Amino acid sequence: MARKIGVLTSGGDAPGMNAAVRAVTRAALQRGMEVVGIRRGYVGLLSGDVVEMNARSVSGIIQRGGTFLYTARCPEFRDMEGVKKGYEMCKKLGLDGLVVIGGDGSFRGAGDLSSLGIPCIGLPGTIDNDIQCTEYTIGYDTAMNTAMEMIDKIRDTTQSHDRCSVIEVMGRNAGFIAVNVAIAVGAEAAITLEEPYDLNKIAHDMLQAKKSGKSHFLIVVAEGVGQTDVIAKNIKDMTGIDSRVTILGHVQRGGSPTLRDRVLASEMGYHAVELLEQGIGNRIVGLKDGKVYDIDLQEGLAMKKDFIHKRYEVLTKTAF
Ligand code: ADP
Ligand code: F6P
Repeated sequence: MARKIGVLTSGGDAPGMNAAVRAVTRAALQRGMEVVGIRRGYVGLLSGDVVEMNARSVSGIIQRGGTFLYTARCPEFRDMEGVKKGYEMCKKLGLDGLVVIGGDGSFRGAGDLSSLGIPCIGLPGTIDNDIQCTEYTIGYDTAMNTAMEMIDKIRDTTQSHDRCSVIEVMGRNAGFIAVNVAIAVGAEAAITLEEPYDLNKIAHDMLQAKKSGKSHFLIVVAEGVGQTDVIAKNIKDMTGIDSRVTILGHVQRGGSPTLRDRVLASEMGYHAVELLEQGIGNRIVGLKDGKVYDIDLQEGLAMKKDFIHKRYEVLTKTAF
């Protein structure tokens, strides 16, 4: 049973990470554990940059984007030498459990630390929703809503000028944000790595739609596809329709988390403490069939995530 635990955020930040830290902290304190916040992920773990947490440390943060513990990428932690240093620091701090909020890279570090004897629990915190063993990641919903609001604004000007807007959304190599957002904004197409696409067909469909009175178009591109500007140029060359590129970028990573992300983060944080209280580590907390669950860390990382093919079909079959 854990008496003192640490919590850190690692990798790219995601809205809702604060809500997760709050839930971990309060749930653990209420069970009589001590909690330390570790700043800047594994960087802070290696240097011992920690802050003792009490219930007030996490007041007023549930609605805030970013992570008040800060986050970082820590190349040193990729090697076992670095992980051993992390283990020594956990021992020095008296930690007998750690909650790691981040993506799959962060989970690999948590797995390595677990193998040395520090029970670690991974909470999926990334806007990309690219973690295999969970249906939803903390931050994904907020990022999609932000992208949707931004593209609604882009639509206004696109419509006024009879143009085509080609909008790049985040997701590293994953097209989850792109497909959902494309449906939500009524885009004509989503271009992702997961689904084959045919620019000639898109251009043809656009010209057909133009004949029936459609005057403006939206195309959403997942960043992993790359060459968003080339796609826009090709569309312009093939259709003659004036096109503009917008890369939404890091705006998608910020802002106040949605209700869904706050609740998910709170439930997951609570679940992590329930596991650590029993001395259970080396697990990832995720969402399966809409319910919070946990899975062996290595097993979870080895899983393959299904893409949302049916949803993509909904997009393509309702776009024109
Ligand atoms: P994310 O967790 O969002 O996928 P990164 O891939 O940048 O983000 O990983 C975050 C941090 O996790 C890295 O900076 C490193 O400290 C640690 N990490 C990444 N990959 C590994 C690995 N294979 N083994 C151990 N630790 C890793
Ligand atoms: O993983 C989250 C994410 O925002 C990806 O969608 C994107 O590719 C990447 O991080 C950007 O990372 P950075 O913050 O280092 O620019």
